[in-house]
Amino acid sequence: MNQTERSAVLRERRRRVEAAWSGASFDGPVLIPASLPIPIDGTDQFHEFHAHPEFQYLSGVAEPGAALAWEPDSGWTLFAPSLSVEDLVWMSAPPSAEALAKETGVGCSVDRSELASWLESRRGQGMALLGSRDIEARASEYGLQAWSTLEAAVDEDATEWLGKALAGLRRAKDAVELQRMTHAVDAAVAGHLAAQRLARHGLTERALQIEMEAEFFRQGGARTAYGSIVGSGPNSAILHGTPGHRVMSDGELVLIDAGAEIDGYASDVTRTFPVSAEFTPIQRELYNVVLAAQQEAIAAAGPEVEYKSLHVQASATIAQGLIDIGLLTGSAEDLVASDAHALFFPHGLGHMLGLSTHDCGGYLEGRVPEDRFGLAYLRADLPLAPGYVVTIEPGVYFVPALLNDPARRERYAEMVNWDIADTMLDFGGIRIEDDVLITPEGCQVMSAALPKAATEIEAIRREALGSTTDRGHG
Ligand code: GLY
Ligand code: MN
Repeated sequence: MNQTERSAVLRERRRRVEAAWSGASFDGPVLIPASLPIPIDGTDQFHEFHAHPEFQYLSGVAEPGAALAWEPDSGWTLFAPSLSVEDLVWMSAPPSAEALAKETGVGCSVDRSELASWLESRRGQGMALLGSRDIEARASEYGLQAWSTLEAAVDEDATEWLGKALAGLRRAKDAVELQRMTHAVDAAVAGHLAAQRLARHGLTERALQIEMEAEFFRQGGARTAYGSIVGSGPNSAILHGTPGHRVMSDGELVLIDAGAEIDGYASDVTRTFPVSAEFTPIQRELYNVVLAAQQEAIAAAGPEVEYKSLHVQASATIAQGLIDIGLLTGSAEDLVASDAHALFFPHGLGHMLGLSTHDCGGYLEGRVPEDRFGLAYLRADLPLAPGYVVTIEPGVYFVPALLNDPARRERYAEMVNWDIADTMLDFGGIRIEDDVLITPEGCQVMSAALPKAATEIEAIRREALGSTTDRGHG
């Protein structure tokens, strides 16, 4: 897609936003700052810049210190930052207002020095403030006087209403977004494959992370979408575990949950595989339970399907799998109703994916997360629709903190075979996660190029281990 086509999609995106916003009982100006870089204490450097997703969605760019404005009468204005001569000694020049006009399709793209007079002429008028609120505390870095002197009357109700309308529109991804997400997912797949080909006995989690992320970046990744999770052995049960210097060993599992970010869009993919060429019998059995839960959820995903029902079905499949191997007793339905499965599947089926890894809009208006062990971490509760991208990522884990918790042992005394559970406290965990685009007919697995059947994973691992003269022991 070339720049002209991209900016046409962005203009259409903003037209949809305008149409949604026209339903508000508010017709004042809307300001959407992009956000500013956050300084690192004790240095003259900054943390990696993350543009506010609302700004990035509406503009299609991620320019630090920029701002967008909208008014029903005058439409969109982009305030493009420019740097002083002194700053240009240290930093790259930002794109000009003209260049941003072409890229974003916002015809009225002006130097940010005009933001002060724009605000001045709206002094005292009710205004919605979306995007980053850092402008209130750091106005001077947007080229303004102190925010308080502007007497900007932020209408919080309007801000909330417009923000919710925007979050709703951001659920269905348009052509530009899907192109960026496809690129991000492809980079993730390449990185995961590189890691699966490299892993072996004696390697550290950190070494695997480095090579996987290098592949993300070679494929166009600007950075990782979130801190990569690489856990070996018992560490694979730490849901957001940071890769460390732990050395992996034959007989253990490795869980990698990692994605690349490209043009602001996240990918989020998880695979679990053996350090040796093959799963052990119990690893394979549990792996296939997770895989069945994941494949059933993908097969059922489609327009109008309630995401929560997919989670509940996956929970029942996992419960049944754990009954079959003797870890749980009772009926899957009763176990799910009492949240017993959550001892081993203590998170939700997944979440919306987009500009954020856990993208906005996961909960339909009026719905809230339930305060129940088996549902508290469900990040999405809404009927699916074409264009939504969600992750589907069930798992089974042996988390010592949960399984040794006296209150839970008492509550689930009769439902868990604790003798078996106690022998598996260092098993770790298994998660399988794909990025799934809902289509009018059903869904499309964007990360389908990354194999996940146990036999396919073993084939990759066999080839990887067989192709080295030194199996890396030691
Ligand atoms: N991949 C990390 C998460 O979904 O929380
Ligand atoms: Mn995820």
